Parts: sequence; structure tokens; C-alpha cells
Amino acid sequence: MKLVKKIILYLNKHILLKLNLIICRPLLFSHSSNLFDVYCKLDYVRVMTLNLICQQLIEKKVEGNIAELGVYQGSFSSLMSQCLPNKSIYLYDTFQGFDASLFNTKFEKEILSSKLNDFNNTSLNLVLEKMPYKDKCVVREGLFPKTIQPEDNNETFCLVSLDCDLHDPIYDGLTFFYPRLNRGGYILIHDYNDTLYRDCKLAVDKYCELNNISIIPIPDGWGSAIITK
Ligand SMILES: C[S@@+](CC[C@H](N)C(=O)[O-])C[C@H]1O[C@@H](n2cnc3c(N)ncnc32)[C@H](O)[C@@H]1O
Repeated sequence: MKLVKKIILYLNKHILLKLNLIICRPLLFSHSSNLFDVYCKLDYVRVMTLNLICQQLIEKKVEGNIAELGVYQGSFSSLMSQCLPNKSIYLYDTFQGFDASLFNTKFEKEILSSKLNDFNNTSLNLVLEKMPYKDKCVVREGLFPKTIQPEDNNETFCLVSLDCDLHDPIYDGLTFFYPRLNRGGYILIHDYNDTLYRDCKLAVDKYCELNNISIIPIPDGWGSAIITK
């Protein structure tokens, strides 16, 4: 065993870290770790954090539905729905990738506009095919926040994923969802510590400072942050 540990340490330090990979201990104590394929294309820490959060939401009977702003091909949305099968899931996306009007900060205009087509290889049908409970899906197709329907204003949430990469939709997402988050609920913000979509952090810090909210950064692949209430 000592030799195995030595080999893993060597691999981590000298080879894997250079490839942005690392071997770490799996979450052995989680009762529901076989709920879904933890080795799916999303990263392990992100998926298992979702898993633990959902266990917590079930145990504490936190009310409200779930939502993702930034669905792309539906990989994370489908896991959220799989973990909380009784909740409706609101899916906010253009379902055709970014729109040029979303690149609004200096960095986004100058550096990120070349990424305009990064997420356009998707469609609403592709996403719905992936969702485990289609009758629980509430689709909001188009540019957020314009796609917020009058009835959405009366909705409350226990779990929200903000994964829309750019400053303005992240800020708009917090503005809409945070006041509608129930006590005990969570907002997961992807890319908070990412160096590419770095203005996501600006938006989160601005909103949280104005509203006296603390965040928890986590060490998943893109440095997500978590807000709870
Ligand atoms: C990184 S992808 C989402 C990945 C997905 N959550 C996953 O884990 O597989 C970002 C998505 O945000 C969407 N998006 C960004 N800003 C948006 C806005 N204002 N309204 C709707 N969709 C938006 C893009 O269309 C894109 O599909």
C-alpha cells in the first residue's frame, strides 16, 4: 500500500498535474455515490458536491424547485434532476449557444468574443432526450433574463446552477434567483475561479458584496463557488 501511495504521489506531482489531472481519494462514505456515473464527462468533485448537496436538501426537506441557467447539452441539468426526481427543473438557455450581445465587459469583448460559437452544438431536443423526467422540465428558451415568464416570479428554488460563463447573465441570474432561494437552498456558480471566464467572479463578488452574502469556493475543475441561505 505504501508503494502504491508513493507511485500516486509521484504521478500526481510529475505527470498528472501538468495535464490538469489529479488522483484523489473517492468519496467512500456517500450512500448514493452509485446514483449516477461519477466518472461521466463532468468532473468528480463537481458531481460529488452536487450529490452531497442533494442528500442534504432531501434530508432537510428544503422546498422549492431546481433550475439551471446555462444548460448547453444538459449534462449537469440531467444529474440535478436525477438527484431530485420530485422537483420541477427550470431550464434557461438559448439552446444555440452564446449571443454576441452577451459579451459586455472589456475582457469579454476583447478576448472572449472568439468563443462565440463554443456552445452552439446543441438543441432543445438533444437536451430533452437526455433529461430523466421530461414531465418535470420547464423550458425557457432564449436569452435570459428576457425569458423569465411572469409565473416564474412566484417560484421558489432549493437548488440553482448558474453556468452561463459571462458577467452579465451571471449577475442577472443571481439577481433573479437569490431572492427566490429558500432557506437551506444552494446556488452553484460554475467558473468562479476560472481564468478564461474570469469576469464571472467579478459579477459574483459584486452581487455578494452588495447583498452581504458569503461564498464557499470549491476545488472542482473550474473552481465553482457555492452560495447558501
Ligand atoms: C458552459 S455552457 C453550460 C454547460 C452546462 N451547464 C453543463 O454543465 O454541461 C454555457 C451555456 O450558457 C448559455 N448562456 C449564456 N448566457 C446566456 C443567457 N443570457 N441566456 C441563455 N443562455 C445563456 C449558453 O447558451 C451555453 O449553453
